[in-house]
Amino acid sequence: MLPRRIWAPPLRPFDSYSMTVVSDSRISFGSDNHAGVHSAVLDAVARANVGFAGAYGADPWTARARELFRSHFGEAAEFFPVFNGSGANVGALSAAVKRFEGVICAAQSHIDADEGGAPERVGGMKLLTVPTADQKLTVDAIKTRLARRGDLHAVQPRVVSITQSTELGTVYSLAELREIGNFLRAEKLVFHMDGARIANAAATLGCTLRECTTDVGVDLLSFGGTKNGLLGAEAVVDLQGEFKDDLRFIQKQSLQLASKMRFISAQFIALLEGDLWLASARHANAMAKRLSEGAGKIRGLEIVHPVSANAVFVRMPRFRIETVQEKFPFYIWDEANPEMPIARWMTSFQTTEADVDAFLAELTQA
Ligand SMILES: Cc1ncc(COP(=O)(O)O)c(C=O)c1O
Repeated sequence: MLPRRIWAPPLRPFDSYSMTVVSDSRISFGSDNHAGVHSAVLDAVARANVGFAGAYGADPWTARARELFRSHFGEAAEFFPVFNGSGANVGALSAAVKRFEGVICAAQSHIDADEGGAPERVGGMKLLTVPTADQKLTVDAIKTRLARRGDLHAVQPRVVSITQSTELGTVYSLAELREIGNFLRAEKLVFHMDGARIANAAATLGCTLRECTTDVGVDLLSFGGTKNGLLGAEAVVDLQGEFKDDLRFIQKQSLQLASKMRFISAQFIALLEGDLWLASARHANAMAKRLSEGAGKIRGLEIVHPVSANAVFVRMPRFRIETVQEKFPFYIWDEANPEMPIARWMTSFQTTEADVDAFLAELTQA
């Protein structure tokens, strides 16, 4: 596959690799990580900044966040707050695999393509990838990696990891999730969900967080917060309570145990106590819809995947890209066709209708 995610020249503030710290007034469609922090979250962190509190989770904010995770995901759910999504994925998967076992996942999923080899290097597990058209695994696709179960010479599949919503902004329906969940249960395999954008998926499906995770048989969830307006907080959630004893130790050993945990937990309280998680995700999704509907009317642009969450993938003529990118940063995702590459546009809780309309006006002009 040809290189993807080529950033527009010049490499300026939004480029995360250059570590530039200058602020930029441009409106970015590059990533939901380019958004700031929701003010309610910052307020919650400031409110937690009172007096002294126990470290490593022995504090009232973490106790409250624990209750909230249970209320959203079910009584058995145990949450482990971590610093980032790759840490959540590696921690969750490490809890489920033995040293000779592996993880079935979609090729080009985040754990396969975007975690710097951490599942293999830090978690010591082999990823058993399956090619897909839309980043969604099916039972048939999973079966292609089960042929050598019991074979002494082959890595043994133990976990199936899916991403919801996917890296292409597509969403598994509840029926699709249920089918995978039932199959994995029957096969005694562990169901992991990379839910970096689970809120966006639940908003699209019109269901509770529990209905699209615990109730369809997911065992381990990487719950995303940062992309949905937190300052920096993700969590491993052991939904059925089967891995919690090991996860305590894995969290520490994989360097994801915060000492001043109250400030991470306070962010989850802001997100989950009311409906901020849902309102922010709904808004981000609505902005992606508005953008794709507008772009669909512009000659020369072609939307290439169903827009089910907060990402829009669009094929666009190369000659248009750089002038638009200069004003509204975004990534090129796939350059397999150099004249007509596929761009990725992402929206967030912070994207406004005016931002989308200004971007559409620029695209129309280009
Ligand atoms: C699908 C998915 N999973 C996990 C992550 C979390 O990654 P990070 O380690 O950068 O927080 C991301 C971030 O881009 C993602 O898109």
